[in-house]
Amino acid sequence: MGRTLNCKIFRYNPTKENDKPHIDTFYLEETPRLNLFTALSKIREEQAPDLMFDFVCRAGICGSCGMVINGRPTLACRTLTSDLPDTIELFPLPFFKLLGDLSVDTGIWFRDMAERVESWIHTETKFDPIAEEERMNNTLANEIYESERCIECGCCIAGCATAQVFPEFLGAAGLNRIGRFLIDPRDQRGNEEWFELISTDEGIFGCFGMMACDDVCPKDLPLLEVFAHIRQKMTGMTLKTLGGFKS
Ligand code: SF4
Ligand code: SF4
Ligand code: FES
Repeated sequence: MGRTLNCKIFRYNPTKENDKPHIDTFYLEETPRLNLFTALSKIREEQAPDLMFDFVCRAGICGSCGMVINGRPTLACRTLTSDLPDTIELFPLPFFKLLGDLSVDTGIWFRDMAERVESWIHTETKFDPIAEEERMNNTLANEIYESERCIECGCCIAGCATAQVFPEFLGAAGLNRIGRFLIDPRDQRGNEEWFELISTDEGIFGCFGMMACDDVCPKDLPLLEVFAHIRQKMTGMTLKTLGGFKS
């Protein structure tokens, strides 16, 4: 016989007058291979039609189902209830704007981050639509692809202590975005521009390096390597400024 799951879910609708944050408990019979997307859908269908949560792809691709599951920010659609104890506690991701219950708006933050790091290739080279496609070294293309795998779920930001106390911090997702353009040879930003972006409290100086982000990233992005590269680049730029490094 399957287990009866005890789902304790954070509830709060900021648009509803007099509503207060509270926890609602729902009981649910566990079925084989039940994931949290299906579990929440069943709860909404059978017990709480006004329960708010986000899902789009159900396949770990869109990044919309990030939530705190038993204390850990992760993707609900990729979480099987069989990997959890009988009691499951669900909270919305902290840090982001709460829309209601388990639903948060990560889009505002990610758009702002993309604008702050100028998340596009900076080049003076004119686009020629009939020119042959530029070739890129395979290893480098793979490194860029690794950073591009970020699905903007926000789990790394929710799990980052610095981001909670210093909202301007770019977090792992922002630093990963910087790292992606930093290694792209088509991006012609100079040392000074990079230095201004990276060597601030909002950038790499704000990062304590305890790597909670790396622990929770559901896509296993190589954040450790990306941060190491950014730090290395920054040290190189500092030495150059001091005249102690030539390249
Ligand atoms: S290493 Fe720590 S401080 Fe730095 S981005 Fe990751 S969680 Fe935040
Ligand atoms: S770096 Fe990982 S945890 Fe952070 S937003 Fe991207 S995929 Fe999510
Ligand atoms: S629903 Fe798309 S990542 Fe979970």
